[in-house]
Amino acid sequence: MRVILLGPPGAGKGTQAAAVKERFQIPHISTGDMLREHVKEGTELGRKAKEYMDGGKLVPDDLIIAMMEDRLSKEDCAGGFLLDGFPRTLPQAEALDRLLSKMGIKLDGVVLLDVSDDVVVERLSGRRVCRSCGAIYHVSFHPSSRGDLCEACGGELYQRDDDREEVIRRRLKVYHEQTAPLESYYEGKGLLRRVSGEGATDAVLKVLQGN
Ligand code: AP5
Repeated sequence: MRVILLGPPGAGKGTQAAAVKERFQIPHISTGDMLREHVKEGTELGRKAKEYMDGGKLVPDDLIIAMMEDRLSKEDCAGGFLLDGFPRTLPQAEALDRLLSKMGIKLDGVVLLDVSDDVVVERLSGRRVCRSCGAIYHVSFHPSSRGDLCEACGGELYQRDDDREEVIRRRLKVYHEQTAPLESYYEGKGLLRRVSGEGATDAVLKVLQGN
């Protein structure tokens, strides 16, 4: 199972990926999570990426492509993977094609989670994330039963720096300008499946299971 999860910020990619990862036992590879880890650890990549991320802009392609070449060559990707947040530009998609062809493997599909801009703003402004395990909550739609603490591990819940309304609007604009063209790119290859991201949080899992 080698799949890309495509969709605007806040479409629910991270939320839906959790169910897919558990069912298929494949790594969930989120470039956003990887970059936030670099920022937390203060690596050179993290220092370079932070300014772009906080402003809602994309991190330059060359940095992302190098990071992903390294990640996809790891042993745990041999049996498949779920990509979340990558590729996000045409040059990234073309670099992924080249890399997979060099590795002698093919993509099985691309699932597009469709969500309106208004829903995105409502979701992201209420999102809370666990600082320890990365579990995702929402103050209204999916609150933690332990208040400001994670139900799963007791870690502190926090609001991401890029989940402020003006940054969310910038991220949406960037998505429509730079990432949405990938929909026709993958449609042209016969790989795209559209799924509504405004319903249940296991919609992607159901599509991948063939339901
Ligand atoms: P990244 O972390 O990838 O952010 P994103 O794509 O903007 O996506 P999000 O994580 O914000 O949303 P999501 O779709 O995962 O939604 P979630 O499941 O959390 O990237 C961050 C930054 O890193 C970028 O801006 C860029 O700077 C940089 N970056 C990353 N990758 C890059 C790349 N390839 N190239 C260049 N730069 C890159 O859900 C959102 C909320 O909604 C949650 O609160 C959740 O509880 C709730 N929710 C989810 N599903 C539902 C539902 N069905 N019903 C009700 N509520 C729901």
